[in-house]
Amino acid sequence: MLSSFPSHQPSIVDSAHFIVIGSGIAGLYSALELSKTGSVILITKSALTESNTTYAQGGIASALDTHDSPELHYQDTIMAGAGLCDSEAVLALVYDGPKRVKHLIELGVPFDRDQENKISLTREAAHSRRRILHADGDATGREISKTLIAKVRQSNIKVYEDCYSLALATDANKQCRGVVVILNGELKLFLASAVILCTGGLGQIYGKTTNPSIATGDGMALAYNTGAALRDLEFIQFHPTALYLPPAPPFLISETVRGEGAILLNSKGQRFMPDYHPLAELAPRDIVARAIFAEIQRCGTPSVFLDLSKLSPSLIKERFPNIYETCLNYGLDITTNLIPVAPAAHYVMGGVVTNLQGQTSIPGLFAAGEVAATGVHGANRLASNSLLEGLVFAGRIADYLSKNPLTSVVITDQLQLHYPQLLTEYDSLEQDLQSLHEIMDRYLGIVRTETNLVKALNLIKKRNTTKVNHFELNPAYFELQNMYTLAQLMLKAALTRVESRGGHFRADCPNPENEWRKHIVFKKSDQTEAIMEVVE
Ligand code: SIN
Repeated sequence: MLSSFPSHQPSIVDSAHFIVIGSGIAGLYSALELSKTGSVILITKSALTESNTTYAQGGIASALDTHDSPELHYQDTIMAGAGLCDSEAVLALVYDGPKRVKHLIELGVPFDRDQENKISLTREAAHSRRRILHADGDATGREISKTLIAKVRQSNIKVYEDCYSLALATDANKQCRGVVVILNGELKLFLASAVILCTGGLGQIYGKTTNPSIATGDGMALAYNTGAALRDLEFIQFHPTALYLPPAPPFLISETVRGEGAILLNSKGQRFMPDYHPLAELAPRDIVARAIFAEIQRCGTPSVFLDLSKLSPSLIKERFPNIYETCLNYGLDITTNLIPVAPAAHYVMGGVVTNLQGQTSIPGLFAAGEVAATGVHGANRLASNSLLEGLVFAGRIADYLSKNPLTSVVITDQLQLHYPQLLTEYDSLEQDLQSLHEIMDRYLGIVRTETNLVKALNLIKKRNTTKVNHFELNPAYFELQNMYTLAQLMLKAALTRVESRGGHFRADCPNPENEWRKHIVFKKSDQTEAIMEVVE
């Protein structure tokens, strides 16, 4: 092998036609679909159940109702995306969506039904129709995950849990051929003819996030270190309503709560959303998040409040059992009390650039779900399009690979292993993580300015300066390094985009600019700085 990590040489442990990394909806579904074509290894860094999917509450959007259509879903998605959606990708999403969601139903996902046994559909912000399927009230992701995991367990897919993906392997033709992992404290190499990244997002770059601890941007860093293109990293979606009850974590209070009629009040008890947008509480997510931010600043209080008084206690308990129970555990009965809420980092619109078949710029490397930038979300994702995107594009990758088999002969001594840069001079993992959170919460939040972005970049760069050859095979160390690498790209993109659009708002240039209907793309270079391009 051409490259080795200092003093460690991975041993080959297993091989298959396909390696899937990650166990959210995209990982589980692509593994199941790919297993119809060839052998599959599914790698996940924690337990199979630990993914952003598991924590997704509101639901999965799909034009299934007779009063709805893929065209309407297309229009809503494009409108939310603020001029940066890829039209072809959105068409693929909305037209494949109903077929794939029906497949989930066939696989046994217990979506909630009404008294006539028809699938119940709810509304979320910026959707012109009720088209959100949900399960066990507000535990949609958990139910999807449970069903797909059961199917994976029944299949011949080989599952490796607690297996951290550290570096991708490419062959002499620069085709992706496998992955080096940390398994039981040792470096191991898995080989395949194609690798599918389904590793989710990077919410843990922020201190205030709705994302679980696994969301550390691993897949984006793996792809970037291998030379793949990343794009749209400045577009971060802040969920408007995360529970604000410190020291409780910023637990997600689903948008479907507003979809069912809850309203937002400021600390003076005044409803404010109608002053900001004609759709009031159901305006696009970026607009609601910014309005809350403005009200918090104006009133000088740390949160606003969700008022559920229009919803009966029985409806609250039936539709939102998970939110009800969680808040109750924190001492808050939401059938009788306002819920204090504030925005928190929730989703990254950008990621590894892919085409309609999920192919990245590296042959043999595919990506689906939040890790990917398919172009469906543009500058701002429409609510409940994320589970759908993971499902649809995972399916498209499997379809593509079933019709276009890749050669499976691997010459191992020609493999190049794309390890992360070993950079660090760190006080402690905890302290460095805390510094990162402070920088990102403060400077790359809902409202950005040039001065703050420059400040943040300097702080991040200062840390990323010392190369060392000492390291431990501790996944937490590499997660942190990945997040610092990605944070630098996110800040650079936010500084470069001198306009405001979707999930990127600059107080010093608050309007969208036509000349900026473009994407900022990064690729790794041999130099310290990444190669940055602005493309149509
Ligand atoms: C929510 O339930 O509000 C989250 C849904 C989403 O992020 O699409």
